[in-house]
Amino acid sequence: MTNTLYRKSFLKLLDFSKEEIVYLLELADRFKKEKDLGIRHRICEGKNVALIFEKTSTRTRCAFEVAAADLGMHSVYLDPSASQIGKKESIEDTARVLGGMFEGIEYRGYGQERVQALADYSGVPVFNGLTNEFHPTQILADLMTIREVFGTTDGIKLVFMGDAKNNMGNSLMVGCAKMGMHFVACSPKKYFPDASLVSECKKIASESGAVLEFIEDPCEAVKDANVIYTDVWVSMGEDPSVWEERIKELSPYAVTQDLMEQAAGNAVFMHCLPSFHDLETEIGRQIHDRFGLTSMEVTDEVIRSERSVVFPEAHNRMHTIKAVMAACLCPEP
Ligand code: CP
Ligand code: NVA
Repeated sequence: MTNTLYRKSFLKLLDFSKEEIVYLLELADRFKKEKDLGIRHRICEGKNVALIFEKTSTRTRCAFEVAAADLGMHSVYLDPSASQIGKKESIEDTARVLGGMFEGIEYRGYGQERVQALADYSGVPVFNGLTNEFHPTQILADLMTIREVFGTTDGIKLVFMGDAKNNMGNSLMVGCAKMGMHFVACSPKKYFPDASLVSECKKIASESGAVLEFIEDPCEAVKDANVIYTDVWVSMGEDPSVWEERIKELSPYAVTQDLMEQAAGNAVFMHCLPSFHDLETEIGRQIHDRFGLTSMEVTDEVIRSERSVVFPEAHNRMHTIKAVMAACLCPEP
């Protein structure tokens, strides 16, 4: 396939076809092989990218910085306190300024309309590094990992446990719908993804052959599942006062060894990370002191088990983000 992403922004997977997603995954596979073999691929030499983070990050920031360096680019990191964005300067003005200095802009922050405005006014490709609604570069890494584990995404059943109405639940549903996979959101009804996004995904599924299900009972949901996926119960930007309610309502959806054993024999565990699986974090300890939990959305046993692919999944963030930047910034990567 030729590169149809050149000069486009990467804001959400809804904007791309299955062929374009596969193109990015194959490009990421190629970059991963080249990196392993020590073959340099500085195909964006001389370009500059701005990395705007209004929320914190370990994986996404590092993936963009390392990928940019490997492609021969220079990156400038703007943290929540280091830019005027939103406080003293509108997104539109920021976009117009940065668009004249950089060939591409990454944005992590709040509403999807903010990353859309950056794309509308900057005149350069913009990459969504996570918004309240979507986390599209994470899904590419997840699909890459699924292809590495199972050799394909065809026929794969992925069950998302827990807060399925957040950026990860939404984006996995879109990704599975596009790829023709079997997606299950497993949570209480109020945590199912937004109805209008569900109906958009059902339309996509009717063409791709995907199956989308919304199930409240964990045992029923995980039957024959190949991937059990979860995410934190409270996302960045949410008010900490929601912890109590989330713990009460989502505890039955925690991924335990017992639940993993009810899935298909070849099932793997995935998580975008960071994760609360032990008491080695400040928030984990606070929750333990208040509610007595030693883990939240996944047990320590599962995340450390042989079925867990969370670290290869995290490493694949870099290769897939590199593919996105190369495809959007180079005519023929
Ligand atoms: N998965 C993910 O986006 O991680 P960070 O928040 O560390 O970037
Ligand atoms: N849902 C999480 C994902 C973190 C990568 C959040 O938005 O905080």
